[in-house]
Amino acid sequence: MNPHLSRLQPYPFERLKQLFAGVKPNPDYRPISLGIGEPKHATPALVTQALTANLAGLSSYPATAGEPALREAVAGWLQRRYGLDVNPVTQVLPVNGTREALFALTQTVVDGTRPGATVLCPNPFYQIYEGATLLAGADPYYVPSDPAKNFAVDWDSVPAAVWARTQMIFVCSPGNPTGAVMPLPEWKKLFELSDQHGFVIASDECYSEIYFRDEPPLGGMEAAAKLGRLDFKNLIALTSLSKRSSVPGMRSGFVAGDAAIVKQFLLYRTYHGSAMSTVVQAASIAAWNDEQHVIENRNLYREKFAQVTPVLAAVLDVKLPDAAFYLWAGVKGSDTDFARDLLALYNVTVLPGSYLARQARGFNPGAGRVRMALVAETAECLEAAQRIVQFVKSRT
Ligand SMILES: Cc1ncc(COP(=O)(O)O)c(C=O)c1O
Repeated sequence: MNPHLSRLQPYPFERLKQLFAGVKPNPDYRPISLGIGEPKHATPALVTQALTANLAGLSSYPATAGEPALREAVAGWLQRRYGLDVNPVTQVLPVNGTREALFALTQTVVDGTRPGATVLCPNPFYQIYEGATLLAGADPYYVPSDPAKNFAVDWDSVPAAVWARTQMIFVCSPGNPTGAVMPLPEWKKLFELSDQHGFVIASDECYSEIYFRDEPPLGGMEAAAKLGRLDFKNLIALTSLSKRSSVPGMRSGFVAGDAAIVKQFLLYRTYHGSAMSTVVQAASIAAWNDEQHVIENRNLYREKFAQVTPVLAAVLDVKLPDAAFYLWAGVKGSDTDFARDLLALYNVTVLPGSYLARQARGFNPGAGRVRMALVAETAECLEAAQRIVQFVKSRT
């Protein structure tokens, strides 16, 4: 067996199952889950129509590189959204969602045989970053996000010796679970460090279209272009339809950026066997070419967050995030006790923050926080928030 498998950590939801073992949720309340970050808004009709209109595609193997029309649709979206001029042939590649792409990109980029092979992960973080790093034979180095700085990742805390052995870093903007968007000066710092040490920046941007401020989140490639880095050297952005178009089951996204990395990634993917079905490609073209359903989807989140956040802010340390669809709330005291007792008394599931982060250099930056995914309908999220208010009041 691959020895790296034994280094994998249990997934947060496995740990949640263990935490909840033996807990009897109060039967007076129907269950509400704010646990899983799975979009629940309706799938747009233009996507389902494109899927059914293109079923003939099931009879042929798709090419790993994708159809030119899909890559052009993606390049068109990058132009409209970020003002970027990318070459659809050399700088874009379809992927079956960002999850598999984050994993596969790590295997493509990281040389685990080099002594001290290191990959930087924000802390808290999306657990695939860690698993991908470990299975590539490298060590993750966890960089804490700072609640005092709108949860910005504290890159300055990374010692020079660690930067020197870093081969790749994960950036998640907008962040899961914090919702924080990375500003241009932070990008500039990371590009300079990348130039100095030669590491690749994997920029996970799957929440880029769900935001609460007027200005859309800055993308990694947009930041590079603003700084004159038009070849996107050592940068790969990963973008997904799952959240943008509420189609997590379609498994569709793309990577874009440095053509030299895209080329090697295509080679890797040819053997990995992760080509996108042409049926899904057709539906993806329809989705990337339409912005109206994205605006409507974003408005649903905006209305929901505008209603739910103030209710919770009355009793928890929480505020409207920059973007994404989570509230990352301070609960005073143990996050695991909070989650367990909330389920027992009010039948609401939230995810303990410590399960989304690692203890590193003496502390776990997720401890004392919970993540609440506001993916269900507004009425259901509001009901959960009201129960949480009662719960918090009953504890003090
Ligand atoms: C931060 C982050 N990245 C990537 C993903 C994967 O999304 P997908 O594979 O659907 O694109 C998720 C899913 O929840 C996520 O939260």
